[in-house]
Amino acid sequence: AAVRTYDFNVTWVNANPDGLHERQVVGINGQWPLPVIEVDKGDRIIVNMHNGLPDRNASIHFHGIFQNGSTEMDGPVMVTQCPVAPGGDITYNFTVDQNGTYWYHSHVDSQYPDGYRQALIVHDKTFPFDYDEDIFVTLSDWYHETIESIDPSFLSLYNPSGAEPIPDSFLFNDTQNSKIPVKPNTTYMLRIINIGAFVAQYFYIEGHNMTIVEVDGVYTEPTPADILYVHVAQRYTVLFTTKDTTDTNYAIVTVADSDLLDTIPPNLTLNHTNWLEYDSKAPFNEANITVDTSDDLDAFDDSTLIPYDHQELLPDPDYEITVNVSMNNLLNGINYAFFNNITYTAPKVPTLFTVMSANESVVEDDAIYGDFTHTFVLKHNEVVQLVVNNNDGGSHPFHLHGHTFQVLSRSPEYDDFTPFDPNNHTDFNDPPIRRDVLVAHPNGNFVIRFAANNPGVWLFHCHIEWHLFQGLALVLVEAPVQLQQTLQIPDDHYAVCDKVNVSSKGN
Ligand code: C2O
Repeated sequence: AAVRTYDFNVTWVNANPDGLHERQVVGINGQWPLPVIEVDKGDRIIVNMHNGLPDRNASIHFHGIFQNGSTEMDGPVMVTQCPVAPGGDITYNFTVDQNGTYWYHSHVDSQYPDGYRQALIVHDKTFPFDYDEDIFVTLSDWYHETIESIDPSFLSLYNPSGAEPIPDSFLFNDTQNSKIPVKPNTTYMLRIINIGAFVAQYFYIEGHNMTIVEVDGVYTEPTPADILYVHVAQRYTVLFTTKDTTDTNYAIVTVADSDLLDTIPPNLTLNHTNWLEYDSKAPFNEANITVDTSDDLDAFDDSTLIPYDHQELLPDPDYEITVNVSMNNLLNGINYAFFNNITYTAPKVPTLFTVMSANESVVEDDAIYGDFTHTFVLKHNEVVQLVVNNNDGGSHPFHLHGHTFQVLSRSPEYDDFTPFDPNNHTDFNDPPIRRDVLVAHPNGNFVIRFAANNPGVWLFHCHIEWHLFQGLALVLVEAPVQLQQTLQIPDDHYAVCDKVNVSSKGN
């Protein structure tokens, strides 16, 4: 295994990825799009991050990486570390014992949609399926203003319904109308990553059949798909084989899910064509787009995929958490998001540091973690079941840090709130697919399960950045006794807290 060292100097740079508007974006070493992290399973990743932003805190989360034994390297601020203040430094240092498709992004509130996100790929020398070439694409929504400049009006009395700001455009590999050169008669492994902040996208390639082989780092039984539905933070890897002729280029179609948008401005383009480029002299035709966003989601149910390893359903849970999701006004008239009527508020000290400094006699007592962090303490190796009932008319892509979870069941969309009924349900999926981001459909529910075998402090939250900002998060303190006994937090991680500029936003 190798050590892969990255020196990241984070600064503002200018970019105009949609050709409509130049703006400041968060760059690394003066560049944007950001560098891709590409490693092999077993490698050690070392990222020396310098926050060269004069006016923003920063951090990095390595989305989907388990951080087994290294929870302090996970990156969400006020969960496992303090935000790195302007001029500050932090080193992330961990080994990767997983294969597949991941990404990295800032985990300071409202920062990654300013461009601070990119693919993280773990290549697998023993990948179980045949292919010739390994490529990836990123999809994302894009705003013309910095998110911090949008936040004050979003979370305000002037937006009592909590309507999410509508993106100004959509990007594909951080650009538009891009051409991916391909060779004829070749099988491609194509990784698709939605690195956006809000909007799910449909994805298909004209004239080519896709076979799903991975979701969120978990290999699947090869499963044909005409179209994918990729919500933010989700990843799919598909295999496809190119034609034997090169006289036509083929459209890669992406369609933003308009069901998520409260209004569709007339100048917003939801459908985009990019191309598989067989021959640069052959025609590049715009796609004839056939997605019906009110229907085609029904044709694609990722909750019924089968994991390639056929890992069985975990036994009945030792510990069960049921949360109802709602979006509502607090008495001050501003729209917040809630799990069981609690809107997440970051503590003054990262929860991980509270674990490490607590007396062993109280470390398993969730009362020490603060009422508004919505913390649950899990015992080492117990089986945990999490039931999410979505009492909201929007979909939510929920993400668990530190784990993939088994998807036991997931309901369709309903017109009226329909919580999971433990006394009246069909069989759970077995073997269940595992992933790290699962969509809860409007007014529907899902049931997931995982083993608490990774001591750490892990966030569970909606990956729509607006909803996280509204407080749609809870914290799992997993095996705190074992954590106290085994974890050593490096000095530089503690030192970051000394430099936090309290006048700047802490979470
Ligand atoms: Cu992509 Cu809290 O993470």
